[in-house]
Amino acid sequence: MKLSSFFAIFTVVLCRLGTINSQPLVPALFIFGDSVVDVGNNNNLETIVKANFPPYGRDFVNHKPTGRFCNGKLASDFTAENLGFTSSPPAYLSKNATGKNLLIGANFASASSGYYDETAKIYNTIPLSQQVEFYKDYQKKLVGIAGKSNASSIISGSVYLISDGSSDFVQNYYINPLLYKVYTTDQFSDILLQSYTKFIQELYKLGARKIGVTTLPPLGCVPAVITIFGEDSNECVQKANKAAISFNNKLNATSQNLQSKLSGLNLVLLDIYQPLYDLVTKPSDNGKLSISIQDPQLLHTFRKTRNL
Ligand SMILES: *[C@@H]1O[C@H](CO)[C@@H](O)[C@H](O)[C@H]1NC(C)=O
Ligand SMILES: *[C@@H]1O[C@H](CO)[C@@H](O)[C@H](O)[C@H]1NC(C)=O
Ligand SMILES: *[C@@H]1O[C@H](CO)[C@@H](O)[C@H](O)[C@H]1NC(C)=O
Repeated sequence: MKLSSFFAIFTVVLCRLGTINSQPLVPALFIFGDSVVDVGNNNNLETIVKANFPPYGRDFVNHKPTGRFCNGKLASDFTAENLGFTSSPPAYLSKNATGKNLLIGANFASASSGYYDETAKIYNTIPLSQQVEFYKDYQKKLVGIAGKSNASSIISGSVYLISDGSSDFVQNYYINPLLYKVYTTDQFSDILLQSYTKFIQELYKLGARKIGVTTLPPLGCVPAVITIFGEDSNECVQKANKAAISFNNKLNATSQNLQSKLSGLNLVLLDIYQPLYDLVTKPSDNGKLSISIQDPQLLHTFRKTRNL
């Protein structure tokens, strides 16, 4: 009895020591994209696209909104934790993005931006091309903070995460006659993927070697899309889901092509389509249905239409 409880305690202590002493798996984490991963950059912009009021953030210990378009932590916050960081990299436009705080990376994401720069311009948020400019600015600061040689190992050893494209469709293409009357979703996807290609090539040139890109989620199951295009049905809008699947296949092919051309690059596609689709369409198979709050008003509508 005594021996086994000793071992139990010993194991617990070891685990604790392990987590305290262990270094994160990579030196830093850099995040680019839209509202799925924005941790507060938009709070510092003159834009109506902000999440700085309740009920955003209500599931944090202090119930305070942070600028995340979510009730609590984002998937990218959990990614940072799983990599061994004790906090998420700071929003690059926040006061926190200074000095040693920048050693764990930075978050450049901005809600209502996309691969297509015009999407961000509609909402006065940060286009992807500008997010890259901020990253270049970051690199200069990093050299000042960590020294040249440390900076270059941080840059090449770190993970780069990009989550983008939803706003290009939901907040631009589908509501913008200048786009949907001119381009098919397939043609628009190709335009987005040209921009994606340029972005990856640029990050690679700047020293990034480990890049993860998320697929589009099932766009047709986004509450706003069901509300606006659902024609009084409560079901996911199949047309928008088809567009997402088609984009994702192209994203996969484009990524494999980039990976084969850029030597030493590890470019990984992170499929979020299927798990989210399963959550929405088969909630009971997945325990309690929980969805992230994109917009409290829309969530309310979503709940009403879905009888949640
Ligand atoms: C700023 O950084 C500190 C220390 O890392 C953290 O506790 C705090 O939550 C951060 N504030 C914001 C607004 O991110
Ligand atoms: C570079 O990293 C090493 C090891 O982590 C550290 O000892 C050194 O102080 C760093 N150099 C600068 C200029 O910060
Ligand atoms: C990407 O394509 C490869 C085949 O070329 C396939 O094995 C893989 O499952 C695809 N990934 C996704 C997320 O669709």
